[in-house]
Amino acid sequence: MTRAQAPGKVILAGEHAVVYGRPAIAVPVWEAVATAEVRNGAAGAGCVIYALDLGKTIRLADAPHDDPLALVARLALRRAGLADDPDWRIDIASDLPIAGGLGSGAAVSAVLVRAILLHAGMEPAPELVSELTYAGEEVHHGTPSGIDNTVVAYGQPVWFVRGEPPAIFACAAPFRIAIADSGATGPTRAMVDQVRARRAADPARYDRWFDEIGEIVQAARQALEAGQPVELGPLFDRNQALLAQIGVSTPALERLMAAARAAGAGGAKLSGAGGGGNIIALVEDEAVEPVRAALLAAGAKRVLVTTVAA
Ligand code: PMV
Repeated sequence: MTRAQAPGKVILAGEHAVVYGRPAIAVPVWEAVATAEVRNGAAGAGCVIYALDLGKTIRLADAPHDDPLALVARLALRRAGLADDPDWRIDIASDLPIAGGLGSGAAVSAVLVRAILLHAGMEPAPELVSELTYAGEEVHHGTPSGIDNTVVAYGQPVWFVRGEPPAIFACAAPFRIAIADSGATGPTRAMVDQVRARRAADPARYDRWFDEIGEIVQAARQALEAGQPVELGPLFDRNQALLAQIGVSTPALERLMAAARAAGAGGAKLSGAGGGGNIIALVEDEAVEPVRAALLAAGAKRVLVTTVAA
């Protein structure tokens, strides 16, 4: 049996502005993961993928071409030099919420690629895992940014500028963030469209806000590389103020962020498209439990606390 894992992801800073050419930073979330197990099955059984959390069973021999998991499985098998349909049973599990802005689609694809390569006796190089995961993302999203596949394949912080290859970077000191789910699904495309419409009515003002977000993202990277993650707190708050001006925050998200700050978080912002979805809050050790409790009391459906490693 071969087992593999891939993390989820959150955007630390720069969402929305990234659509207009400014940088964004995303980090892996290892506290919610996708896993895959591969076993040799009975001769003639073919390759069957059981993805029960997604409500899917996929027989590779007759899966449609536009099924993202079947596509990445076939690509990975081909890269491993195997026939399209080995007698393998592959079980996939994920505790990442679907469409929750935590990169669940990419994590599931990445773990499938990794498990297939490992079971074939190949080292799952992150470049290859990222490339094949991106192919699955394209089926889902059309033109994915490339953030999700890079973060889940490398399991490291990623600096991302549209149109440029994503760059991995290292944090000089670990830090923790609480991730709270508002329970409302973040409708990414609708939020991006709304921002586009509002910007069209007042481009100079929006571009100024996007520039300010870009500067915050730069400062966040410097703080992380200098081993000063505590500086992220005020940067989160400034980034959030701009996201609210851009119109993507909601009263429910603001309530969660206020609760986290009042309970001792160093700063908080929404993460992802907004309009719902998640907030993140910077938490020092002693703030972890008070912030978790405050977020749940303020209506969070789920709170994950993740350590972003050095
Ligand atoms: O919620 P997520 O993780 O899909 O992030 C959306 C980020 C946006 O900047 C709003 C859109 C994008 O494509 O970058």
